Parts: sequence; structure tokens; C-alpha cells
Amino acid sequence: MDAVTRAVRVVSKVMEALDICSFELTAIDGDTLPPFSAGAHIDVQLPAGLTRQYSLCNNPTETHRYQIAVLRDTHSRGGSVAMHALEVGQIIRVSDPKNHFPLVHDAHHTVLLAGGIGITPLLCMAERLASVGSSFELHYCTRSAERTAFSERICASPFAGVVHVHYDDGPPSQKLDLTAVLERTRSQAHLYVCGPTGFMDWSLGIARATGWPEERLHREYFAAAPLDTSADGSFDVQIASTGKVIRVDADQTVVAALSAHGVSVPTSCEQGVCGACLTRVLEGTPEHRDMFLTVEEQALGEQFTPCCSRSRSPKLVLDL
Ligand code: FES
Repeated sequence: MDAVTRAVRVVSKVMEALDICSFELTAIDGDTLPPFSAGAHIDVQLPAGLTRQYSLCNNPTETHRYQIAVLRDTHSRGGSVAMHALEVGQIIRVSDPKNHFPLVHDAHHTVLLAGGIGITPLLCMAERLASVGSSFELHYCTRSAERTAFSERICASPFAGVVHVHYDDGPPSQKLDLTAVLERTRSQAHLYVCGPTGFMDWSLGIARATGWPEERLHREYFAAAPLDTSADGSFDVQIASTGKVIRVDADQTVVAALSAHGVSVPTSCEQGVCGACLTRVLEGTPEHRDMFLTVEEQALGEQFTPCCSRSRSPKLVLDL
């Protein structure tokens, strides 16, 4: 896990839409905060001991504050409910910003595609692209107007003209024809997608079907879809530097098995989303269960995420 060492104060809490709250965080001494780039996130440690990752959604030129927005989801693991319970004035701890979803800055054109609360990193990207005069368009798919966060900010922004909001409950004329958008922009653009897993799979599926190359598809998942682990078996992992072989039981993650033998791997999301635990595989065939690596990177089998991924071969030799 990234070190959650920085104390920050919640200086504002705003209901941006139904069940979506934004939080403005500043240094407690009023000092500047470490800079961040568009697409970055911070780890936030909540009072109940939970740690969650949230994308920064303010303009990345700002150093006096971090802004995040959180969808309250009572079916989630509890982080969003704890976030919504925070009060203005409360002090919490966060990590320095980290970016697993960076913009390619020399792109000819950029298509930003947000599903619901997935708008957060993409709004930050829109700010950045607009400020450097890059060509882009933002498609923002939401369930309804009342669930659409940051409407006023977008309308008042200098890039309002390239934002297209598509409501699930709106008339057919405003629905997103993603195939048409991706066919029109396929030749040279980069695509950035963020939203619920089903939305991401749908979007990336259309991109691949319309001939987009994998290297121009960029995505950030919030959470892994539930997985059936009932058929999981055991296997061995070997630490290359020491030769030690460690058994991973059927009901254990590789990270947990390693930790039980004193080998620690940095983790953050612990569900294959963030890439913090990425480990090189020297021998054996991983069974990838993450959403961090691209399809090509997974096929190469040179690295895997031991927080959730397993092994197809009886043994994996890890570069540890
Ligand atoms: Fe996030 Fe493994 S800890 S991918």
C-alpha cells in the first residue's frame, strides 16, 4: 500500500448529485500539496481503518487542494459509506498522488468516455487537455440528470462545447452511438474509459470490434467484478532470490501466502485494479484475474498481480 502519511483537512463537502459527494482536501498547515498529473489517484485512509483509492478530479495545475468525488454505494465494501460520513473540518490521512492512468500527451485527438462516477479522472483529463489546447471530446453517460455530478462545472468550463452528456432515461436523440464515435475517431485517437465494469467491458468491446489497436485503449476500473473462486486449487511460488518455495493454498492469495512467510509485496486495492502489487514472473504461467494489465501484457505472462491472480502451472517463479 502506498504510504498514507499525509494529514489533510476536509475543507468542503458538496452533494454534486444524488448519492455523489465531492470533498476538497487541503494541507493542515495551509501549505502546498504534492503535484499530480491528470488521471492520478490518492489512497485515502478512513476513520474505520479502511483505505480506498479515489481519482483526483480538480485541475492538475492546482497545488493548494485535492478534490475527490465519491458515489455512495451501500453494496460496496464500506469505503463509500464511510467517506460520506466524513464531516467538514475532519482530518484524514492520504497518500501522495500516484498515476496508473496517465494521458498520452502527443495524441492527435483524445476520446474521454465516462460512465457515472467514472467522470472523476476524465474531468481532470479534460481540464488538462483544454489547458494545453489539445483536441478532445468527452462523452459522459449517466443514469439521469439527478445522478449527473459536476454538471454546473462542466457547463461553465471552457471545454463545455466538446462535452456530450448521455442520459439513460433521456430521449433516443441524445443516446451515445459509441460505434459511430469510435469509427470516426479510430485512425489516430487515444481512448480513455472509466466507469462500472459492465460499461468498461461494453466500451472496450466496441473499440476492439471497430479496429482500435490495444495500445490506444486506456482504462481504469474502480472495482473488480465478483469472481467464482470455488474451483481454485493450490500451487507453489518460488522466490527467485532465495530459492524458497511457498505453497499457496486454494483459499489463499499469493500475497497472503508470501506474507505468512515474511515476504511482503506492496499492495493497495487488493483486487487487481491498481497495479501496486505487480510482480515479474520468471517461470510458469500466471492465471490473470486483474483488470490492470492489458490483454497483450497478460498474454505475455511476464508479470502478474499476486493480490488476486493465480497460476495455471504447478509453480510460478517470482522475481522477488
Ligand atoms: Fe492493486 Fe494488486 S494491489 S492490483
